[in-house]
Amino acid sequence: MAVGGFAVDGGNVDGLGGRITLSVVVTCVVAATCGLIFGYDIGISGGVTTMVPFLKKFFPSVLKKAAEAKTNMYCVYDSETLTAFTSSLYIAGLASSLLASRLTTAFGRRNIMVLGGCTFLAGAAINGGAANIAMLILGRILLGFGVGFTNQATPVYLSEMAPPKWRGAFNTGFQFFLGVGVVSANCINYGTSKISWGWRLSLGLAAAPAAIMTLGALLISDTPASLVERGKLTQAKQALLRVRGQDTDIEPELTELIRSSEIARATKEEPFVTIFERQYRPHLVMSIAIPFFQQLTGINIIAFYAPVLFQSVGFGSDSALIAAIILGLVNLGSIMVSTFVVDRCGRRFLFIEGGVQMFLCQVGVACVLAATTGASGTERISKGYAILVLVLMCIYAAGFGWSWGPLSWLIPSEIFPMKIRPTGQSISVAVNFAVTFVLSQTFLTMLCHFKFGTFLFYASWIAAMTAFVVLFLPETKGVPLDSMHVVWERHWYWQRFVDKESY
Ligand code: BGC
Repeated sequence: MAVGGFAVDGGNVDGLGGRITLSVVVTCVVAATCGLIFGYDIGISGGVTTMVPFLKKFFPSVLKKAAEAKTNMYCVYDSETLTAFTSSLYIAGLASSLLASRLTTAFGRRNIMVLGGCTFLAGAAINGGAANIAMLILGRILLGFGVGFTNQATPVYLSEMAPPKWRGAFNTGFQFFLGVGVVSANCINYGTSKISWGWRLSLGLAAAPAAIMTLGALLISDTPASLVERGKLTQAKQALLRVRGQDTDIEPELTELIRSSEIARATKEEPFVTIFERQYRPHLVMSIAIPFFQQLTGINIIAFYAPVLFQSVGFGSDSALIAAIILGLVNLGSIMVSTFVVDRCGRRFLFIEGGVQMFLCQVGVACVLAATTGASGTERISKGYAILVLVLMCIYAAGFGWSWGPLSWLIPSEIFPMKIRPTGQSISVAVNFAVTFVLSQTFLTMLCHFKFGTFLFYASWIAAMTAFVVLFLPETKGVPLDSMHVVWERHWYWQRFVDKESY
C-alpha cells in the first residue's frame, strides 16, 4: 500500500488530505451546480402537474375526477398518463447513466457534465414549446438523458477533486445545488401558476439552470484522476498543482493516481464484469443498496407530490405551493448542516440520526392522517392538523437533507477503486432512477388504496435501512480514495470478501 499511515476513522492523511485552496473550492462549487438541473426538474414537475391550464390541455381526465366532489381525497391525482409524464424522465436517465460509465472513462468527467447540460437544454426547449403530449414526453426523455449523464459524472468529479479530509463536505455541494434547483422551481411555479400559459414558462425556464451549469463546466478542468487515466500526465500535474496549491508536494498523490491507473489499464476485463467479482461484493452491494434505500425513504413522493398532497389534504392551490417551498428551504438548510458535520462526525452518525428522525416523522404523519381524515379518507382535514402534517414533513425533510440526501451521492462515488469507479457510480444512479420510476408509478395508486398506511410503509423501510447502516456500512470519512480498501479489510463482515493481493 503506497499511502500508509492514515487513521481510518480520522482525517490524518499523511499530508495529502486537508489543505483547502481557493481553486479547489471554486472548481467544486462550479461542478456542484450540475445538481441544479435535476433539482429544477423535481421541483417543476410536482408543481406543473397541479396547474389547471396544464391539466386541461394534456390531462383533462384528472380535472374531471377532481370536480367530482365525493372523490376520496387520496385518489384525485391517481392518473396513469400523468404518472407516465413524470416518470418518463427516469427511464431515460437510467439508460444514459449506464452509458455514462463508458463515456466518463473515455472522455473524462467534465466533458460528460457538459454533454448532460446540452441535452437537458434541448429537452427544456421542446417542453416549453410543447403542443401535444408526444412533445411533452420527448422533451422529458431528453431531460432524462441530461440528468443521467450529470448525476453519474458530477459526484465522481467532486470526490476525485476534493481534498480527502473534506471530501464529504465538497461532495454535499451536489445535493445542495440540487436543493437550490428544487426551491427555485417551486418559487417559479408559484409565480407562473397565476398565468394561463405559466406551465410553458415553468418548463421552458429549465434552460436557465442548464445554461448555468454547462457554462460553468466548460470553465473547469477535468479531475487529475481522470486526466491520468486518459494518459494526460502533464495536464494532470497542472490540475493537481492548481487545486492542491503550487507549494504543495503533489508527487505522492500523483504517484498513487498513476499506480491506480496502471492497475486499471492492466485489467483488460470489462468493468461491468469486474464489478461482479467476489472481492467487489461489498462495493457492489453498497452501490445498489444506498440509492435503493434512499428512494425508499419516500422523499420523492413528498418532493414530487408535495403540492398535490397538500392540496388533496385540504390546502388551496397557492398554499400547497407555499408548503412545498417551505419544505424545500428546510431541506436546503439541513444540507448545509451535513456539509459541516459529515467529515467531523462521519457518514454513519448522520445516516443513523437522520434515519431515526425520518422514521418518527413518517409514523407521525400516518397517525395524524388516520385520526383526522377517517379510514375512507373522505373527511376534510382541518387547517390546524394540515399544519401539523406540514411541520412533521419539515422535520422529515431536515432529516433527509443531512443524511440520505447528500450521502447517497457521496458513498457510491468514494468507495470504488479507480478502475471501476465510473461503473459503480453508473449502477448507483441507474438504481436510483429505476426505484424512483417504480415508486412514482405506484405511489398515487398506493396512496389511493392504502391511504395513510402508505406512510407506515415508508417508515418500515427507514427502520430497515437504518439497521443496515449500523451493521454493514463502514465509516469512510478522511480515507483517501486510493486507500479505501482498508475500510473493507477492517469491517467485521466484509473482510471475508477482500482480496488484499489485488491492491
Ligand atoms: C434524490 C432525489 C430527490 C432529491 C430531493 C436526491 O438526492 O436522489 O431522488 O428528489 O434528493 O431533494
